[in-house]
Amino acid sequence: MFAFLTQEARPGSGAMFDAIARRYDLVNRIMSLGLDRWWRRTAVAALKLPTRARALDVATGTADVALEIASQADDVEVIGVDPSPRMLEIGRTKVTDAELNGRVDLRTGEAENLTFESDTFDGVISAWGIRNAADRAGALREMTRVTNPGGRVAILESLEAPGLLLGPMIRFYTRTVVPFLGGLISRRKQEYQYLQTSIAAFPKPEEFHMMMRSAGLQVEVSKPLTFGACWLFVGRKTAEVPSDAEGSAS
Ligand SMILES: C[S@@+](CC[C@H](N)C(=O)[O-])C[C@H]1O[C@@H](n2cnc3c(N)ncnc32)[C@H](O)[C@@H]1O
Repeated sequence: MFAFLTQEARPGSGAMFDAIARRYDLVNRIMSLGLDRWWRRTAVAALKLPTRARALDVATGTADVALEIASQADDVEVIGVDPSPRMLEIGRTKVTDAELNGRVDLRTGEAENLTFESDTFDGVISAWGIRNAADRAGALREMTRVTNPGGRVAILESLEAPGLLLGPMIRFYTRTVVPFLGGLISRRKQEYQYLQTSIAAFPKPEEFHMMMRSAGLQVEVSKPLTFGACWLFVGRKTAEVPSDAEGSAS
């Protein structure tokens, strides 16, 4: 399906997001019916950052999560990383408009290869980011590595959760309405088709819990938001990565 894309623009890569950056925020607002802001707010609050915290937003894109972190506490410092220059450019404009340049710093970077010392951040978050990482487990390990022991890693993702009351309706929405509407508004149909296929390919919550435990996180929160339209996972970094993490997962 993506044969027309160059190697660099593999589905989900920063190059692919360059192509949809200009209308990314608008499409988000419309397709989520404005709920995306509340989902981000909920995920950021779940980090339970201490005072004078340092936080990392992985796959920051146009910086909505980074800005939300900065707006929830006056004394927090946020770094956002993303591989897409166009998404970051828009994010930087928003940070400047919000007069938050002193507290929000956006940098080029990838989840699988974070260029920070271990145990650097009080909280690490990624909203609709980890799904795009070529090595998802590696990305989660990296996010955990740079988190202080006792700190939290929050993941906000869209996934096809089975057995929910409104599951069939939500599946219809993500499988049919999202690619159609997203493609129409952004004029990049293939990219929004990717969104749907990547949502379908995302691990079920139980599988993702195992991945979290293997990375050294204790699963603290795992819950659907808005009837499963998206999912919030929060893990707390334990002192040491458990050697039997895979085996002990439920
Ligand atoms: C759906 S957007 C999410 C942006 C933002 N977190 C938000 O809340 O709107 C996904 C982002 O993941 C970024 N991305 C793609 N591959 C990545 C990787 N390997 N590591 C980190 N970010 C990546 C893309 O450039 C894009 O900005």
